[in-house]
Order: sequence, then structure tokens, then C-alpha cells
Amino acid sequence: MLQTSESRSRSTALLHDHDWWRQAAVYQIYPRSFADSDANGIGDLAGIIEKVPYLSALGIDAVWLSPFYPSALADGGYDVDDYRDVDPRLGTLAEFDALTAALHDVGIRIIVDIVPNHTSDRHEWFRAALAAGKGSPERGRYLFRDGRGERGELPPSDWTSIFGGSAWEPVGDGQWYLHNFAPEQPDLDWNNPDVRADFLATLRFWADRGVDGFRVDVAHGLAKDLPPEGEPLPTQAELDALPHDGQHPLWDRDDVHDIYAEWRRLFRSYDPPLIGVAEAWVDPDRRARYAGQDGLGQAFSFDLLRADFDPRVFRSVITSNLELAAASGSSTTWVFSNHDVVRHATRYGLPVSGDSERMGREWLLSGGTAPELDAALGLRRARAATLLQLALPGSAYLYQGEELGLHEVPDIPEAARQDPTFFRSRGVELGRDGCRVPLPWTSEGPAFGFGDAAPHLPQPDWFAEYSAEREEGDPSSTLWLYRRALRLRSELRESEQLEWLELGDEVVGFRRPGGWVSVTNFGPQSVPLPDGDILLSSEELPGDGTLPGAATVWLRDPDTGENTRG
Ligand code: BGC
Repeated sequence: MLQTSESRSRSTALLHDHDWWRQAAVYQIYPRSFADSDANGIGDLAGIIEKVPYLSALGIDAVWLSPFYPSALADGGYDVDDYRDVDPRLGTLAEFDALTAALHDVGIRIIVDIVPNHTSDRHEWFRAALAAGKGSPERGRYLFRDGRGERGELPPSDWTSIFGGSAWEPVGDGQWYLHNFAPEQPDLDWNNPDVRADFLATLRFWADRGVDGFRVDVAHGLAKDLPPEGEPLPTQAELDALPHDGQHPLWDRDDVHDIYAEWRRLFRSYDPPLIGVAEAWVDPDRRARYAGQDGLGQAFSFDLLRADFDPRVFRSVITSNLELAAASGSSTTWVFSNHDVVRHATRYGLPVSGDSERMGREWLLSGGTAPELDAALGLRRARAATLLQLALPGSAYLYQGEELGLHEVPDIPEAARQDPTFFRSRGVELGRDGCRVPLPWTSEGPAFGFGDAAPHLPQPDWFAEYSAEREEGDPSSTLWLYRRALRLRSELRESEQLEWLELGDEVVGFRRPGGWVSVTNFGPQSVPLPDGDILLSSEELPGDGTLPGAATVWLRDPDTGENTRG
């Protein structure tokens, strides 16, 4: 169905640019932790509407909304009860429309999160599957198998879920269902035509309401190839030994792309076409297909997110990602933080271990505000990394609160924790609550301005230092840095070219068309700055022609447009 422009709420400026996403700055909102307008401790859509001026002043191109659908919150909203409604605690469909219109009015697009790998166990399909019993068409939408043992009292296999524990849950009649995540998230069977048709209807539902694209959760997990009922399943060890070459029974199968080819056709039936971005934790060389012409359009690269603050790693990741993007015909994506990982200001303030994500977890496991965290260094590096990110070709995905320089909250009391990874690992993994704590908007007042009730995750006292209100009044704040950078970045839209500069081992420097130069000093010692007019820097510069350690500067080559100097 072709939508007319009039039927979708868009400002004229948003209508004509089909390539807006290629170099967009996309700001992720985790709605339950953004702004609470009705004093129930949970952020909501009306709260986001109130903050549209803030988002507009920030200078982003699009908002990605994490799930806002009805949900028991067994996994922070990624357990969806109804894909075509709004959680009543968060608002109504009318408020969703009002939010879309308010964003579009200020030139910001909206991307919504689609969770197709699993429904929640409260979804009407899953309830029907339980009621209908073994062998029914209703069970055929999920992955039910008989248990082993005389009465089916043992799980069909020893598979483990991503969140820990068995990947199978019994339903009391000898059958079990597969859940690669929490038991409240039964995996769908994408070989079932009902499933395919229903998600196309869901995509149309939101597209017709005016959304500009979709973030596709666990995009590499939908297609599965399990032996038929009655045949033995491989063991977890056998699965682990299999290559991820497109034929693995559970992950990153080649046939998943048939699903996205159909989705892309639907995206292209809208004018302008919609865009999809795949969350696919796959080998970099298998990522291109999710992003390609018959894929969703774009795919997250988590390579920089996993990298230490190391110039060699940054250089090689940037090079390989630009090559992969060019091969797919898409643009690349850069991400440092999201709702699933330790915030990058914190990761970069931890001792180097070679793996930032694990490094963060190790620190969290040690509990509390561990002495080895250098919070100031972490933030300094995060600001330098972000300025580098925003100068690169491709899309930058930013996570709410990083523009305030927020750190992870490690010391949430056990009783307040929500993440199923915490419970299923019996606290061995603290999980992801620490990056989902509601934002501080003010330095004083209830919930630091998040809302009038106690927030659903407790905020630490030090949030006062990072409030949007305080940073608004401080031109050296991280908020001001993001705003200035996002404004300047809009000049880089015209091209996706990048030319490396050789400025020493500890330095990552490159030139973009128009004489734009970005230089990041990863080392501790100052380095000489190349010639150019200074546009912006992540730290105050000493004014002696040098760039201090852990800092980025943007310059404009005086010979603007002449890409001849190295
Ligand atoms: C989301 C997570 C979620 C998981 C299961 C992910 O990749 O980003 O937050 O827990 O999918 O839906």
C-alpha cells in the first residue's frame, strides 16, 4: 500500500530526503527511564513530548524509541504483549501520534523498536498456544517440543538461554517451549506463515502512523532450523562447535534474509521509503547482508563499542567498517553506548583488559564504586571518542544520557534490580540496570526532575552533578559539547569520503571533504596540532599549538576543499 505524504505526519523538509539515514545522528530513548509526566515512577510518551525542545536543541536527526508496548517488563519491555498498542503506563496511541507529529514538526524522524524473535508469554498467541494443547496450529507458531524422560519431565535438550539457565520451559503437559532469552519470551517459529503475515501487518500499522523506520531486535535469530518433532536435538556442545556460516540451526542463518527482503519491499512501498536497522550480533563480514539492498538497509556495528580506547584498534575498526559498508551499499553505523552495555564514560575509566565490555562487568562484579574506576579519565576519553565518532562518515547512534556524560550506576540494591540476567545468573552478572537509571533533568527536586514519584530504578546522589539543568548553564559541559558537535556535523552530510592523516602512532586523524579535519590523541602526552582553524575540541586547548592527551579537536583546513596536505 502506498502512503500519500499527506496521510503521514511529516514536515515538508522530511519528505524529500530518501537518504537521511545514511549519516544521521540517532538518539536512543529508553522510554521508561526518560521523563515521567504522570508521577508513577515510569517514563512515558507525554514525558518525551515535553522534552522535544531539548531533543531539537541537541541537534539530532532521529529518535529511536526502545519498546513502549504493553509488557510485564520481564525484560525491560522486550517482552511484548501486543505489538500494536502502547503500554497504558506509558500512554496511548493518540499520544504516540502526538509524539510523532511533535518530532516531525521540528525535523526529527522516529524509529521504533520491533521485537520479532519472541513475543511475551502474555501475548494472545502464546495464551492460545497453552490453551490449545499439543500438536495444535496455535502451538505451531512457537517452538514446542516434547520433553525427554518418561513423562516429559526433562527438557528436550540441554540448550542454555542467553540470560542463563535452560532455554526450555515446561508447560505442564509434557511439552516445553524454546526461549533463547527469558522464559517470559517464547521464541516464535518463523517458518509459520501466520508469524510472517502478522509482522508485516505490524510494520504497516506503525508505518501508516508515520514512523520513519524500525530497529529490529535480535535480527540474526528469527530463522531457525530445528529437527522435526520426535527427532533428537543437537546438544549445546554440538551447537557451540558449529560454524556460523549461515547454516547454524539457531543463529545468523542465510534464510533469515528472505524475511528481510520481504520487509524491505514493504519499506519501499512507502514514500519516502522506510529504513530498518538490524541488531545482529554477527561476525563483521556477515553483517553486510543485513544492511544490503535486499536487507533491512542498515545494521549496527558494535565493533567500536567492544574496543578499548586504543588508536590501533580504532583505526582498524574504522577502516574495516567503511569497507564493509561500501560493499553492502549501505552506510556504516557507530555505537558506543546503548541500553544493553556499561556506559562508555565508565568503560573508558577502567583498567585496560582487552575487552571493554567484560572489563566493565569485572568492575561491576567487584561491587560498588570500585577504586580502580577513574571517572574523570573515563569521561574525558568518552568525550574524545564521541567527537571522533561524530566526525566519521555513517550514522551515529547515541544513547540517552551520554550527552550528559553519565556514568554507569553500579550499586543498585538487589531488591531494586530488574534485569533478568541478574536473577538468572543468581547475581553473578549485575546486568543492565546500571545504564537504564532514569535521567537527571535537574540537580534538585524529586527524582532529579525525572518525575514527581520515586523512579522505577533508584538514582544515586551524584546524578545531581550531571543534570541537564546544571550542564545547560556550563558551556564546558558535555551537553554543550554534544550540541555544538551535532550542529557542526550537519555540514559533513554531503559526502561519505574519509582520508587518513599520518600524525603518529597515538593519534587518529582524518580529513573529510570541505577541508574538515578530526584529530584524536589517544596517548597521555600532548602532540602537535596540524594547521587549521579550530572548530571544536573535547577539552580546553592550551593554545600553544598542541593537543593534550585523551582529547579530540576538529579543525578546518585553511585551504578548504584542497585535500592535499597530510
Ligand atoms: C535487546 C535487549 C533484549 C534482548 C531480547 C536485545 O538484543 O537489545 O535489551 O534483552 O534483545 O529481546
